[in-house]
Amino acid sequence: MRFGSPHRRDDHGTPRMTDLASQTNSQNGLVLSLRDISKNFGAVSALTNIDLDVHAGEVVALVGDNGAGKSTLVKILAGVHLPDSGTITFCGDIVVLDDPAASLRLGIATVFQDLALCENLDVVANIFLGRELDPWRLDEVAMEIRAWTLLNELSARIPSVREPVASLSGGQRQTVAIARSLLLQPKLILLDEPTAALGVAQTAEVLDLIERVRDRGLAVVMISHNMEDVRAVADRIVVLRLGRNNGIFHPDASNQELVSAITGASNNAVSRRAERRQASREHSGEPRP
Ligand SMILES: Nc1ncnc2c1ncn2[C@@H]1O[C@H](COP(=O)(O)OP(=O)(O)OP(=O)(O)O)[C@@H](O)[C@H]1O
Ligand SMILES: [Mg+2]
Repeated sequence: MRFGSPHRRDDHGTPRMTDLASQTNSQNGLVLSLRDISKNFGAVSALTNIDLDVHAGEVVALVGDNGAGKSTLVKILAGVHLPDSGTITFCGDIVVLDDPAASLRLGIATVFQDLALCENLDVVANIFLGRELDPWRLDEVAMEIRAWTLLNELSARIPSVREPVASLSGGQRQTVAIARSLLLQPKLILLDEPTAALGVAQTAEVLDLIERVRDRGLAVVMISHNMEDVRAVADRIVVLRLGRNNGIFHPDASNQELVSAITGASNNAVSRRAERRQASREHSGEPRP
């Protein structure tokens, strides 16, 4: 388990992210524990009896096919949907997340897939939007320093915090959205498809960033359809299928194992395609990849 040193503060008296792990007053660093969570939308069972544990300093990848219930689970944790049944334990206490503010107050931050950044505002304004240090008097200097400190702690590569978000790359925007979510010093951060639509280099940068957040003691849940990204960064891979738990895997699990758990069959379209490609390679005398 990776914990930072406790009681460190930055130059402005604000607790640093490294303080956060020490605030996790739960046993064994267990930050989040879901038991028997179910959620129906009318006749659709989006989630049935889901269990999930996430520890401080751990990246859990949540994977599953379209409609498996991943976003519904994230929305329950973000306080957008109430579950129909089941318990949510956060840092040792059973909690009710009945609105997004309740999740934020407890220390659950969510970076939704669309990032929800304001294109015309600069990086500082986006990080502090709605959370200005003093809503009656915009303390631009203090906010700029705090934004720089956050981004430096993440070793983020942003050319200038006074640059409008519209001029940033996809990876830099993801970085700004993650920095924004860290402002309220969460203990758990939920990332919905953080590397979707990113190129190779930007994906690597965002994966590095996720590792840095994890190494500072936060618990991270990352949704992804990209098994390479998942394997690269996750400590555990949790598979959902048709709204149910369908296995927990170590990141060195084979593609075949993961795809079988995701699709529910060992004879699936992905493995049939891989076998066909292999057979045609062997037929043409090409070496195995
Ligand atoms: N607000 C809603 N109203 C009705 N049904 C919903 C609602 N939200 C989700 N569902 C249904 O719940 C199921 C799970 O959807 P969810 O969006 O959680 O899947 P997902 O795993 O995130 O899929 P994807 O990978 O495509 O994003 C689907 O059958 C979906 O149609
Ligand atoms: Mg989804």
